Amino acid sequence: QHDLLKSASGIADRLGVDLYLVGGAVRDLLLARRPNPPDLSAVGAATDFPAALAKALGGQVTADSQFGTAKLRVREALVDLALARKEFYARPGALPTVEPGSLEDDLARRDFSVNAMAVSLNPGDWGELSDPFDGAGDLKRRLIKVLHPLSFQDDPTRLFRAIRFSGRIDFTFESDTKRLMRDGLRFLENVSGDRVRHEIELVFQEQSVVAILQLAEQLGLLAAVYPSLSLTPGLAGASSDLEADRELVLLSSLVYSVPRNDLDAVVRRLNLGTDWSRVAADAVAVRDTMSELGRPLPPSRVYALLHGRHEAAISVCALAAVPEAAENLAHYLTRLRHVRPSLN
Ligand code: CTP
Repeated sequence: QHDLLKSASGIADRLGVDLYLVGGAVRDLLLARRPNPPDLSAVGAATDFPAALAKALGGQVTADSQFGTAKLRVREALVDLALARKEFYARPGALPTVEPGSLEDDLARRDFSVNAMAVSLNPGDWGELSDPFDGAGDLKRRLIKVLHPLSFQDDPTRLFRAIRFSGRIDFTFESDTKRLMRDGLRFLENVSGDRVRHEIELVFQEQSVVAILQLAEQLGLLAAVYPSLSLTPGLAGASSDLEADRELVLLSSLVYSVPRNDLDAVVRRLNLGTDWSRVAADAVAVRDTMSELGRPLPPSRVYALLHGRHEAAISVCALAAVPEAAENLAHYLTRLRHVRPSLN
């Protein structure tokens, strides 16, 4: 990445553009974590700068958007490049209106102080840190802190970002930020299903996912997405179940307490695709057989109750089950589902 950034620096300088490493990339650099991919911000650049930079680096633009952001692929490396900008939110949870801005504008529109730092990449001041909100201090203090009181109202997806970072790097919330988070929960209803689901998917990819989901539950974030979303008890001990079908196990856990009649509403709220909807329905269906599964049953009945249900859904129900039911579920998973009759 260093060589790539050096080349980008020379090209930006030739084109009269101020180029910075920004946001999460600077945070990760100061934490000695590898930023992947690096985020760059260009000040004073024309809209064709991403294409010009990609071309000069021998790469290509793989995606660009109306917000002046682009993804470049240069050999094996990916780079996120954005033109520095100001943002305005017309209403809570809406996507922002964007216009070109200075580096200061670009940092001030961001979520948390630790994500609002920039490092200059131009040869004249290579490596110089811009840190108007004392993000470096908050990194040392291990604090997640918003830059202004309307941050969660403008963009309620930041509630998910806050819990992701706090779980990932073991940070706590600054006291005003914590209060604003609780207050910001009500704005989540303005955010589309796709955007909320995307944030949940990002949480699912975090290494400390269970701790992060527990925090989401404590803060009321799961309930703000849909009232009966919660975590199955026992998930914390399920690290081996998280190896296979990780996302489906986590999804099953989240919907485990959803009343059957609310399932369609949850599917609509998160705009779940076919696979996720099916697994969510399986988790709820298996849960509804738990009292029967808690009784001594012939294997044929256990098979009939569980046949065709997704393994992830069954594993999650096993975590929450009374011992007798857990035994029937485990029997099904380890043996009964593999039994084939000798006669057709
Ligand atoms: N950002 C923001 N509000 C959001 C999303 C992003 O202010 N809702 C800003 C933050 O400054 C963030 C940067 O845009 O650091 C880049 O966003 P992204 O790549 O999504 O996140 P990272 O902070 O890089 O986090 P991750 O390590 O999870 O990619």
